[in-house]
This record gives sequence, C-alpha cells and structure tokens, in this order.
Amino acid sequence: MISKTTPSPPTIYQAPMEGVIDHHVRSLLCAIGGVDICVTEFVRVTDQRLPRRVFTRLCPELLHGAATADGTPVRLQLLGGNPAAMADNARKAVAVGANAIDLNFGCPAKSVNKSDGGACLLQTPHRLEAIVGAVRRAVPQAIPITAKIRLGYNDRSTYLDNALAAAAGGASELAVHARAKVDGYKPPVYWACIGEIRQRLDIPVIANGDIWTLEAFKRCREVTGCEAFMLGRSLLARPDLGLQIKTYCAGERYCPMRWQQVVGLLWDYYQTTREIYPSKYLGNRIKQWLAYLKLAFPEARVFFEKLKRLRIAEAIEAVFIRELQDRQRELKVMEGL
Ligand SMILES: Cc1cc2nc3c(=O)[nH]c(=O)nc-3n(C[C@H](O)[C@H](O)[C@H](O)COP(=O)(O)O)c2cc1C
Repeated sequence: MISKTTPSPPTIYQAPMEGVIDHHVRSLLCAIGGVDICVTEFVRVTDQRLPRRVFTRLCPELLHGAATADGTPVRLQLLGGNPAAMADNARKAVAVGANAIDLNFGCPAKSVNKSDGGACLLQTPHRLEAIVGAVRRAVPQAIPITAKIRLGYNDRSTYLDNALAAAAGGASELAVHARAKVDGYKPPVYWACIGEIRQRLDIPVIANGDIWTLEAFKRCREVTGCEAFMLGRSLLARPDLGLQIKTYCAGERYCPMRWQQVVGLLWDYYQTTREIYPSKYLGNRIKQWLAYLKLAFPEARVFFEKLKRLRIAEAIEAVFIRELQDRQRELKVMEGL
C-alpha cells in the first residue's frame, strides 16, 4: 500500500523537438511506457488560417482522438507572434481534432526569431500574454493550453515576468526550459529559477532541461519542487527514462533498457520510415537518433561509425541485420551464464 506521505507520481511530458520527434518517434517512445503526454513539432503560424492538412500532417493523431496508438494524449504545438492568427489557428486545430494546445515561446532558431516567433517573444511579456490570452479565449475552457518558455532572451532577467504573463493570459500549465535563449543548450541549467516560478504561480509548472538520468530527475524534483517534468534529448538518449522514473517513484525495481532492445527500436523506426523519406536521406533519421543514443550507450557510437557513410538501403540494412544478430547472440550467451 502506498503511504499518505508518498509524493504523487510525476507526470512525464515528451518535449517537443522540431525535425526530430515526429509521430513515428512518438509512437515508439510511448509504446515503451512512462510518457504521459506528448507534444508535436510546431505548426508555424503567420497571418493565415492554415489548411486542415497542415495540422494532420504534423499530427496525424488528430484523426485518432489526438492520441498515439497506445492512447497517450498528444498536444498540438503552435508557434507565432500574431495573437489573432494564433487564436484563429488554435480554433481550427480544435475543429480538426486537437484537444490540447502547446504554445512555443522558446525556439532559439534565428529564422524563427526573425519572423516574430519563439524565444524572441520573451523580450515583450505583454505580447506573450496577449498571445496566450487570445488563444485562451478562442478555444473552449476544457482545452488545456500549455505555454513553453525559456528563462529569457538575451539574459535570464525576465523569467518571472514571462511566467506571470503566461499565467495572466490564462495558460493552464507552464513548461520552463531552464535556460535563456542566449544560453543555447550549454550547461549549466538553472533549475532553481523553475522552483521560484512554481512558488509564484497557481498553475502547474513543468520542469525541463537536462534531466538526463534518474539521478538528475531526483535532483531536479528536489530543486524545483515540481510534480511534472519534460524530457527531450534525454528521452532519445534513454528511450525508457520516463518508465525508469515512474518505476522508481512507485518504489519498484527496474532494469533499464539494454542496447539489444534499443537496436530493435531503431530497426522498427528504420522500417516504418524507409518509404517516407526520399532515398537520398535514407538513414539520416537513424543517424540523428544515434547521435543522442551515443550519450547513453557506448555501443551506439560503434554502430554509428559503421552506418555513417552508408547511403544505400541494402548496405544500411545489412549493417542493421548484422548488429541485430550479433546482439541477439550476445544476449543468449549472457542468459546462458
Ligand atoms: C532538435 C531540437 C528541437 C527542438 N524543438 C522544439 C520545439 O519545436 N518547440 C519547443 O518548445 N522546444 C523545442 N526544443 C527544446 C526542447 O523541447 C527542450 O526544451 C530542450 O531540448 C531542453 O530539454 P532537454 O534537456 O530535455 O532536451 C527543441 C530542442 C532540440 C534539441
């Protein structure tokens, strides 16, 4: 029986990752378990109402109850600086099937910031509030709206202003990547600021940034006091990190995923996406995922070296099959010990 003093189990979000976590990856990650809520890549909003196909291309789950095949809810991410257009497209997204919206105020990309989207809006908290407010008024109250911010743009001095602005605009939840735009992705990460934000806000705050391991999760929870956490690069490096965290919090033992299982996951991804990407890009997505896996699995580095120059399906597949067979043999030997 769980005692009354046991902290409630954390909610784990998959962080949005443009160009990396598409619906195929979401589906594979969610099937492993441990992820409660996913977020799509962004729908870029300028001043037009976008056609239905833009929403369903980035989020085919909209056609299936806005959830992955295993039933994990998916939030649709919008990015833009025009409140009226953001509101109009949020309304459209809901009409197409979205049942939760995520607003991007963190993207550091030059091209995005130059066209008035992402982290540049952190320089003007009143504009951020206007965007959140316009979207809030455009969709039914039952539709949660998450705002995702960094700690600031050129420095970290505006995090409370922006957090308060998002809440004043009516955000249901605030996700905070604990760095300014100027910090890029460089360590350190400033979790203490998330703790401060959490104490000032009445809405749930989702802690994000550098939760690479179970140990990092424990430290982040202690520093921030949050009950919700968002995993991005770390979920690609350790696809079962969410499950590991959940199992730990339930007081149960867990044996983390082994490389043998990870290769199987990559092979599934390769097979499902093989037909979709033009042949000149074949294998690129696998190599991209391996760049994250290398951070947690030494074997991924070796596998990447074998794959990195290959462009032809037969060659890529031969290397994959060899790896799968070798690892299978290794597993049998280990099990026989
Ligand atoms: C390749 C890449 C793409 C990203 N795309 C988005 C995005 O579309 N929207 C967003 O709000 N954040 C985006 N982020 C930021 C992540 O959601 C997350 O805040 C950041 O990576 C820190 O979390 P992590 O240390 O768990 O990766 C992206 C990050 C990376 C590395």
